[in-house]
Amino acid sequence: MNIYKKMIDCALDSQKKAYTPYSNFKVGACVLTDSGKLYGGCNIENASYTPTVCAERVAIFKAVYNGEKKITKIAVVGKENSLTYPCGVCRQVIREFCSDDCEIIIIKNEQEYKIVKFSEILPYSFGPEDL
Ligand code: THU
Repeated sequence: MNIYKKMIDCALDSQKKAYTPYSNFKVGACVLTDSGKLYGGCNIENASYTPTVCAERVAIFKAVYNGEKKITKIAVVGKENSLTYPCGVCRQVIREFCSDDCEIIIIKNEQEYKIVKFSEILPYSFGPEDL
């Protein structure tokens, strides 16, 4: 199975785990690290709203907790048949751990997806090497 198909399956499976009693907007994400491992994530909402965490950050934090600090690709799925891009906060969190040529895979449905480079969605960014 090719890596894109694996990541799409992982993101779609993760989306099913979303905890979204407030928005009912379910998001799934899948991170591929430089070790070749996949980490899934879903959004987890909160009655106090602001503590809500996006699917992308759950996937990234799981990877980092497991000792992985280099993301090579990240896939995201939101509403079926539309393109859900990472929010601004998640873009900055991806920036912390992404490689220069990191691919963002925006999943439309099980068969269709779009790939953009990280630098396209967060140009002129600020990261660890700027400190
Ligand atoms: N959400 C994500 O999980 N990822 C994004 O990139 C966009 C927004 C979640 C947060 C919240 O639970 C719901 O989608 C509606 O904003």
